Amino acid sequence: MKTYTAWLPFLKEVPPRGLETAELAAWELEQGLRGLDCGLSGRCAVDGTMPEEAYRLERDGETCLVTGGRIGVLYGVYALLRALALGQALPEGVQRPFYPARMINCWDNADGSIERGYAGRSLWFEGGAVRYDPDRLLELARLMASVGLNVLCLNNVNVRDPAERLIEDWLPKLRELAALFRPFGIRLMVSVDFAQPMLHGIPTADPLDERVAAWWRERARDIWTQIPDLYGFLVKADSEHRPGPFTYGRSHAEGANMLARAIAPYGGKLVWRAFVYNCLQDWRDQTTDRPCAAYDTYVPLDGQFDANVILQVKNGPFDFQVREPVSPTLLKMAHTSLALEFQLAQEYTGQQIDIYAMAPLFREVFDEVPPEKVQAVAAVSNFGRDGNYFGHPFAAANLFSFGCFAWDPASEPGETMAAWAGLTYPSCARTLTEEILLPSREIYEQYTAPLGLCWMVNPNHHYGPNPMGYEFQSWGTYHRASRDAVGIDRTGAGTGYAAQYPPAMRARYENPETCPDRLLLFFHRLPYSFVMRDGRTLIQRIYDDHFEGAERVEKMAEILRTLPLPQPDRDTALARMEKQLANAREWRDVVNTFFWRFSGVPDAHGRKIYD
Ligand code: GCU
Repeated sequence: MKTYTAWLPFLKEVPPRGLETAELAAWELEQGLRGLDCGLSGRCAVDGTMPEEAYRLERDGETCLVTGGRIGVLYGVYALLRALALGQALPEGVQRPFYPARMINCWDNADGSIERGYAGRSLWFEGGAVRYDPDRLLELARLMASVGLNVLCLNNVNVRDPAERLIEDWLPKLRELAALFRPFGIRLMVSVDFAQPMLHGIPTADPLDERVAAWWRERARDIWTQIPDLYGFLVKADSEHRPGPFTYGRSHAEGANMLARAIAPYGGKLVWRAFVYNCLQDWRDQTTDRPCAAYDTYVPLDGQFDANVILQVKNGPFDFQVREPVSPTLLKMAHTSLALEFQLAQEYTGQQIDIYAMAPLFREVFDEVPPEKVQAVAAVSNFGRDGNYFGHPFAAANLFSFGCFAWDPASEPGETMAAWAGLTYPSCARTLTEEILLPSREIYEQYTAPLGLCWMVNPNHHYGPNPMGYEFQSWGTYHRASRDAVGIDRTGAGTGYAAQYPPAMRARYENPETCPDRLLLFFHRLPYSFVMRDGRTLIQRIYDDHFEGAERVEKMAEILRTLPLPQPDRDTALARMEKQLANAREWRDVVNTFFWRFSGVPDAHGRKIYD
């Protein structure tokens, strides 16, 4: 019997190992219908003529019928069980995912730690080796498959010894893991180090050096012989001190294509991250503007990448801050396959202590980036070895909703959150959805960094306020608050970043009258006396947001205490809420005091701001 069923409470047993997908689908259907106790029977069948991941649901009296492609049949079973559990009508017609690759990137290190992991240690690494509890992985595979996620990258993009040798020394273990995930339609991927050949006596990692290319070809042959359906390699190159083609004066197209060609014969994909910027910037330098970096590096290379290269671009031009505009790179590379990258791990957004439901973020991003502009989606994982996988039981909602948006980018946050809450906590789904989950992003934003400023966090671990924490550092992360003004001018008169957007967006952002309030200080440097559209001054708006954000957390806490959540979720959620309350108060007071000390402008309502 499982101890944690997340959003699948009707699936109480861990599925057996070694089933084929069709057998697994039948097993899940049988168990799910029994768990739902709904008096219905069901059948599922593979229809070889349907696309692999597609399915169709039908009902004939008391019998439900799932028909699907090789993997779609399993997706169909989960969709059926979900609809029955929620009392929803079955979707009509053939259902299929919008994106072929719906990826999770784990930042797990071989020592068992997880970079930016807030839910315990790795589920498959410990002590420098691959170690795992198969039942827990089967449960995870089921959670992923139940929302249609189909690629799992096992190791950190910052490949560090000994995980560096994953593809050399640990192939038998990878093969075992691949077999565990395969019936669920999940293909594995591994992060590789661009300089990996140098661990094997090759004196260079120059992508145009034949010895380097030959080494990768051999590796690819070994790997795909063992794991014929490995999805591919994920690479972080020339980024935050990782090695890359720049060392050899080569472009990122040359670097990526060399690797892509090694794995192309096996159908492998080369996922190349576009997170490249100068992380050794002098803070005095006001002309270099970090958000410009990805576009400047990659847009000139559009059309030069091989067909099996996917360029993976973070949703915003910085780094998963609470509020960023969408990355203009996503809008400008029509001749390159792109993957849009989110971070489910709440690095800058509360670290799975503070409640932060991401469905509204996904909606906002797809409202600005037409879904067909990208060919795949990826998200940094938010799970680990904690009993409930996610640290905070509500953080599960983020994996769930990412799956929903990856399947259908036209998804609506309200429906997605209602579905997750309805499945997980049916007795209080509505209140949880409306009063807690849906507003949680806005509330978090109100009590933390104002109006698109970003980077007011404590350096390194990134939890809690520190308005000057990144101000004099080398990471290109400045708000340049002074006694008169705050923000960065990114218009044509400033760093020019806004010019990277298509004309209509550029015009909207460049004019403070039309720039959305939430991004005002991302695009503009404005005096504290600037009058916002609603008549308030900028400084007053900063104070108001912080007071209001912290108050809203207090209200949220009151509501949370009344919810009949099952144990141990209730205790976990309440304990974390105490920390969120403290965090919100700390943010409110630190940020308000910071701006009061600079501006000397008191709060118009006379609320307490510390000197
Ligand atoms: C952030 C994060 C790092 C991570 C990096 C990345 O900067 O703090 O831990 O390595 O993103 O996306 O590669």
